[in-house]
Amino acid sequence: MERILISELGKHVGEKVCVKGFLHELRGQSKVKFVLLRESSGIIQCVALPESKEVFATIEKVPKESVLKIMGILKLEKQAPGGMEIAIEEYEILSKASLELPIQVVEKGGEEISLPLRLDYRWIELRKPKQALIFKIWTTLEEEMRHYCLKKGCMQIHSPKIIGTPSEGGAEVFTVDYFGRKAFLAQSPQFYKQMAMSAGFEKVFESGPVFRADRSHTVRHLAEFTGFDVEISFIESEEELMRFEEEMLTHAIAKVKEKHGTEIQKLFGFEIKVPLVPFPRLSMGECSKVLKEVGVIEEGDLSSEGEKKIGEIIKEKYSHEFVFVTGYKYSKRPFYHMKTKEEGTKSFELLYSGMEITTGAQREHRYEVLKEQAIGKGLSLEPLADYLSFFKYGCPPHGGFGIGTSRILMQLLHLGTIREAVLLTRTEERLTP
Ligand code: 4AD
Ligand code: MG
Repeated sequence: MERILISELGKHVGEKVCVKGFLHELRGQSKVKFVLLRESSGIIQCVALPESKEVFATIEKVPKESVLKIMGILKLEKQAPGGMEIAIEEYEILSKASLELPIQVVEKGGEEISLPLRLDYRWIELRKPKQALIFKIWTTLEEEMRHYCLKKGCMQIHSPKIIGTPSEGGAEVFTVDYFGRKAFLAQSPQFYKQMAMSAGFEKVFESGPVFRADRSHTVRHLAEFTGFDVEISFIESEEELMRFEEEMLTHAIAKVKEKHGTEIQKLFGFEIKVPLVPFPRLSMGECSKVLKEVGVIEEGDLSSEGEKKIGEIIKEKYSHEFVFVTGYKYSKRPFYHMKTKEEGTKSFELLYSGMEITTGAQREHRYEVLKEQAIGKGLSLEPLADYLSFFKYGCPPHGGFGIGTSRILMQLLHLGTIREAVLLTRTEERLTP
């Protein structure tokens, strides 16, 4: 018999159906035994009645989380979750689970499972419909960001992740043994997305892994994460980049709400808020000023505390969850950011509910100026030679930004840690599973 997805059962009331999934819950009474079967599309109640002798006698002994194939007649049943129920005629154990589960899929409440244990048994944790929903949302979010980029005429690129020169000045880098030579894991696609501008690609995006040998033990830092990067040629200023990004995010979040809003409401208990464009913009100087008014001193750059505070102030003042922070001093930025006359840069950060989710900038595309800026930052030109040569033979003015996709999910879904917004966590202390 062909398997029917639980989400498709509505079309088969009155028929004999076959469903496959995990044994979510089992409730036995003397007259009737209920089995909740769970798979990626939903949960269905199945019932074993005394008439189905063998089934009735044995089903209770099947360990929770075993994988079952169940066949029986599908009926409407007001009492059942989803309003349908399968009267089990036969079942088969496709995979028997151990009696003792290291963590429960259906938490009874009261028992506090520690985060490390949840991460140790991530694949069981991910069976929880709420956890799985995060990844359905990610799928939609990224699909719609891509969709937006494609509509705007971007090309997709996939730049190498094994690289010869560290690609992000400040961030820590992993070294790898590359056929006996020293190589690095890319800290961002920065250099190569810029190379694509020199190749005349004009507009590109890339979603891919980003590596940071970052020892910070925070709820928002990982050693490996997925970045969504955009780079655009022939821009006049960073303002065009901010407009692109705010429209892209608004579009993608609206689609997430459209597709998953009901389920988010059900499992997370809140409504997704689609932001309005334009997002508020605040210069770093203005940030320092408003922070000072509430007794916080931050100059040049925002600490995570400063970001949080700015998020609160923006929320109160503009009822907005996003804010672009602009006008950073060149002394605080990497050498490739374009300077303004006043020793500022044409760069920005995007904060979402008080957390940085993006850094972006118009780049310095003039070879001689770029070289001067690298020297000025005390960098050795030799390892940068390949990168610099991207600008030697003609390169349009351009700029772009990089987003930490998991940080969007974290803020969108009010997750306590970024570890819940990645399939598997990579931090200094965790390399498995
Ligand atoms: O701010 P970052 O370091 O900027 C760049 O990589 C630039 N090349 C981007 C550009 O186009 N100018 O990283 C971009 C984003 C951050 O804003 C943050 O959302 C995320 O990547 N990110 C991290 N996410 C998780 N763990 C980490 N250790 C992260 N470091 C950065
Ligand atoms: Mg940054």
